[in-house]
Amino acid sequence: MEKEAVQPEAWAPFAEGADHIFTNPVLAEIANKHGKTTAQVMIRWFLQRNYVMIPKSVHKKKLAENFNVFDFKLDAEDMGKIKTLDQGHSVLEDEMDPEIAESFR
Ligand SMILES: NC(=O)c1ccc[n+]([C@@H]2O[C@H](COP(=O)([O-])OP(=O)(O)OC[C@H]3O[C@@H](n4cnc5c(N)ncnc54)[C@H](OP(=O)(O)O)[C@@H]3O)[C@@H](O)[C@H]2O)c1
Repeated sequence: MEKEAVQPEAWAPFAEGADHIFTNPVLAEIANKHGKTTAQVMIRWFLQRNYVMIPKSVHKKKLAENFNVFDFKLDAEDMGKIKTLDQGHSVLEDEMDPEIAESFR
């Protein structure tokens, strides 16, 4: 793994479930291709980009699902499709909004 001066970490790796993320059709298509769930696809995306992420669940079954991500790999086509999901802004609080940024102080 390449050393980075700053280690990126996801704030809310599943967007706190916002924007119907778990049923997103692009993620669902990739998940079906690999016989995995959309949550597992999202986790692989973070792992393959060397981002730290701490996916939160209060359900044992989902926690187990979230650990079961080391038997498949997203390919370049999958990564490219996921890149098209970037909306250029956060679906949660937008920390680039001065008012929101100020509220974090
Ligand atoms: N977002 C913040 O402001 C913030 C701030 C400080 C620290 N953190 C930490 O960052 C981590 C991220 O947690 P987060 O709550 O912010 O958001 P998140 O991890 O993006 O999303 C959590 C949501 O995903 C659901 N989920 C988890 N695994 C799933 C699966 N396999 N299938 C379907 N749904 C699944 C959870 O539901 P269930 O729980 O019902 O399974 C919960 O509704 C946590 O450790 C949290 O303590 C977050």
